[in-house]
Parts: sequence; structure tokens; C-alpha cells
Amino acid sequence: MREPIHGDKPIVIQETPGTKAYCQCGLSERLPYCDGAHSRHQTGLTPCVCDVDAEGKKAICQCHRTATPPWCDGTHKNPAT
Ligand code: FES
Repeated sequence: MREPIHGDKPIVIQETPGTKAYCQCGLSERLPYCDGAHSRHQTGLTPCVCDVDAEGKKAICQCHRTATPPWCDGTHKNPAT
């Protein structure tokens, strides 16, 4: 399995309701959404698929250390151990 490409802060978007697939490999050209890059690059990773109930501002984790994927929980502010 390939290590994901990590960002140092979340991507903040105005999200709409529906089922969403958020990139977990960091290779998507449509971040924060999956574009199938995890398969094309044979990463062994898969997107985080979840239902968004209501429109609103969302912070999508890019450091991949959050305890509440795909949502940022502020962990990116702490040094990686
Ligand atoms: S980007 Fe904020 S916890 Fe990962």
C-alpha cells in the first residue's frame, strides 16, 4: 500500500447534501473529492464515502490524522509524532 500524500491543513468548502467520496490518497485532481486516482496509481487506498445531510461549510482533513474522517478535527495543528 502506498502512503497518502498529506496536506498541512484542511480544504474548506461549501458542501451540498448528498453522498460524497472524499480522496484519501491525495492524488486526485479534484481534491477534496475522489477522481479514481487511487485506482490508477494502485495505492491500495480507497476514498472516504459519506452522506452529507445538509448544506454547509465543511473542513475536509488532508493531513490524514483526524479522529473523525473525513472531517478535520484540528489535529493538523499538532506536530506529527
Ligand atoms: S487537516 Fe485538520 S485534522 Fe487533518
